[in-house]
Amino acid sequence: MGLTRGVLRMLPLLLVALGAAGALLLVGSVSAWWWCAAGPLLALTALGGRDLAQRRRSVLRNYPLIGRPPFLVHERARGAEAEEPFGTGRDVYVDGHEFLESSMRPVEVPDEPPVVRVGGPDCTQPYDMALLNVSAMSFGALSPNAVLALNRGAALGRFAHDTGEGGLSDHHLRGGGDLIWEIGTGYFGCRTSEGDFEAREFADKAALPEVKCVSLKLSQGAGPGTGGVLPGAKVNAEIARARGVPEGRAVVSPPYHRVFSTPRELVRFVARMRELAGGKPTGFKLCVGSRRQFLAVCKAMLAEGVTPDFIVVDGSEGGTGAAPAEFAGGLGTPLTEGLITVHNALVGTGLRERVRIGASGGIATGSDIVRRLLQGADYTNAARAMMLAVGCVRARRCHTNTCPAGVATQDPLRVRALDVADKSERVRRYHRATVHSACRIMAAMGVRDPGELTPHRLLRRVGPTTVRSYAELYEWLPSGVLLAEPPATWSADWAAADPDSF
Ligand SMILES: Cc1cc2nc3c(=O)[nH]c(=O)nc-3n(C[C@H](O)[C@H](O)[C@H](O)COP(=O)(O)O)c2cc1C
Repeated sequence: MGLTRGVLRMLPLLLVALGAAGALLLVGSVSAWWWCAAGPLLALTALGGRDLAQRRRSVLRNYPLIGRPPFLVHERARGAEAEEPFGTGRDVYVDGHEFLESSMRPVEVPDEPPVVRVGGPDCTQPYDMALLNVSAMSFGALSPNAVLALNRGAALGRFAHDTGEGGLSDHHLRGGGDLIWEIGTGYFGCRTSEGDFEAREFADKAALPEVKCVSLKLSQGAGPGTGGVLPGAKVNAEIARARGVPEGRAVVSPPYHRVFSTPRELVRFVARMRELAGGKPTGFKLCVGSRRQFLAVCKAMLAEGVTPDFIVVDGSEGGTGAAPAEFAGGLGTPLTEGLITVHNALVGTGLRERVRIGASGGIATGSDIVRRLLQGADYTNAARAMMLAVGCVRARRCHTNTCPAGVATQDPLRVRALDVADKSERVRRYHRATVHSACRIMAAMGVRDPGELTPHRLLRRVGPTTVRSYAELYEWLPSGVLLAEPPATWSADWAAADPDSF
């Protein structure tokens, strides 16, 4: 089957080569005029041969002659500067247009980009997180070569790589990059045969030196409240090993966690994970749904005296390998509101100093990073932009196992086209250029430390003659106000939030 598909992908090149051979025969036997056909066909055959041999463009290796692909991420991954001559030419007078406030007193761009220390009072092994990291994407959703290229890129650029919920695979451990090991409702890589959380296995893997942080996935933006099904056909020996499931049998992740059913139990489980992980930074990821439920978790943190070291907020605009079409963007909170809610809830309960906030959902550029920092994040993660950096051409076939770039497939013939050495370098270059761009923007705003960024510095056009800052557009709670005197806009949710019930 795979071989037949492989031959089909090579068919255009084979036909051109056969045509060239035929035309050459006709040159010798019929007329020299056949050179008019033989010449171009020979040139195309040579071009196809070059496509097959080169290592920089995976799609061309899989589809010689016919696969010619996308822009900013690709340009940055290639190492090209993203400068734009003659001004922007963008329409800045449309409603919703956003811009950052520049300064009359810019500062120097720092030689080294800032990092963010993750680790609250109960963490004994804090981690310095980069401003941009590889967001969770599982081995299984991504090919072995894509996982390895991301991990090597992370090692080269000194940033973190989130494993995604599909287990800690050999490919995550081969590249030397820092890992955030994520577990979801399937507890892959640390599960019993019944699908429950297996503490011993979790502790053993969390102790690996590559694992810098551990993360509990509650939900993700592209499909909050849904568990995944990995069809049996995709569960090959490697995936079965990484996930700790039987080979060839469909794996169903429940939509909810078995290890907790109340906010208090969630918080206790986070504390247990951190203990099992030897005090490494421990957090959770969610796409915000109800503000009351998140406040219930904050109340549980206060009641138990336990905080996660980080919370990653994923926006409903986030991507995934496969999600129900109607969920995307239609269920769950977009990143801006989700981020501001989580930031405010933590500030309002006096817990913000103890918890770092990561943001994901549509982050691809330096200004995306700065905007999210301004809205309350401490650092950011990117998934799809990192996929582009390893050669994704947005063929949108992630769920079909036929990804032409070898990024989101387990078909060995397609996977081989993704050259790990070249793509890990592209990941490093993309990351470096994007973080550098964020640092340049902050310097132009006169900001030396991301902590100086405030919502006043992000502006949005809300009418033909009106521009408002984020400080005006959104409510920003003073520290501890929810404990002292909740404002009217929050008081109903705060009163209804119950640490013992979602
Ligand atoms: C192919 C793919 C696989 C993903 N797998 C996971 C996963 O295992 N766990 C998770 O928390 N999020 C997963 N996500 C979501 C991303 O981590 C991220 O939250 C989301 O895509 C938003 O980021 P983006 O807009 O930069 O893609 C996946 C996303 C993609 C594109």
